[in-house]
Amino acid sequence: MAVISIANAKGGAGKTTVALLLAMEFAHRGEPVVVLDCDTFTYAANWLKLTGTVENITIATGITFVNLAGKLRDLRPVNGHVIIDLSSASDALVALAAGLSDLVIVPVQGCMMDAQGATHVLDLVRRVEQTARGRIDHVVLLTRVNPLVTTRAMRSVKVMLAARDLDLLDTPIVERSPYRDMFECGGSLYDMPASRGEPLRKAVINMQLFGYDVATRLARSGAISSLAPFARLCFKTVPAAAAARLPATARDPHEPAAITVLS
Ligand SMILES: Nc1ncnc2c1ncn2[C@@H]1O[C@H](COP(=O)(O)OP(=O)(O)OP(=O)(O)O)[C@@H](O)[C@H]1O
Ligand SMILES: [Mg+2]
Repeated sequence: MAVISIANAKGGAGKTTVALLLAMEFAHRGEPVVVLDCDTFTYAANWLKLTGTVENITIATGITFVNLAGKLRDLRPVNGHVIIDLSSASDALVALAAGLSDLVIVPVQGCMMDAQGATHVLDLVRRVEQTARGRIDHVVLLTRVNPLVTTRAMRSVKVMLAARDLDLLDTPIVERSPYRDMFECGGSLYDMPASRGEPLRKAVINMQLFGYDVATRLARSGAISSLAPFARLCFKTVPAAAAARLPATARDPHEPAAITVLS
């Protein structure tokens, strides 16, 4: 199981869209996904309600700072991934989710306000890393990118991100009508009628490349065994192989490298 948080302090940065695209892509590959919808307006859950079910995707609502770790503990025995769709409202929840995640994805549209919202989240991630003395894999994802031109604002955002030496996911999420329409008609993009033509085909390819980038990144970092700094809030111990890769400062010298997992 990998835990992936989607976070940006700026409202409307594309978090829920990105969370659902990733869920659709994993689900299509046969990997079950639970989306934890942290928004009180439950946009992700509302999307699922439109069709009732989407194979391999479950959405849980009512996620708070108080119950997030317990929810992840309950999900531990479930075979699949957890995607945490964070709202822009609570720094505490974002910090906790980041500390519990194998990967934090920060969507950024080509505008300075989004970049500032991203900077805020990235500062939070850094502070959690310092406090917990562990590393949280994090990456910026450009969203709503114009497929034809690079705007001045987008250039400025790229320069700002480069100056901070941040990792950028290879595949940006392009501005596409099916990414808007899915909130109206529900269901996976894979289930949309082919009559929607070229925009749908391009949207699906974009989603596949994005999913591939994320899966590759997770595989590279060995995220499936959860090395997240706060993992012990959910799991009594982490697998021995994973523990061996933790920096010495993050290991408890008195704890044997045991294998049991608290379910
Ligand atoms: N790549 C895209 N192409 C077209 N429309 C998009 C794209 N990404 C997001 N949108 C649209 O932008 C709006 C905001 O997106 P979304 O709800 O995903 O942002 P959010 O960061 O989750 O917002 P909030 O902070 O309210 O949770 C939605 O109407 C969505 O349909
Ligand atoms: Mg949202």
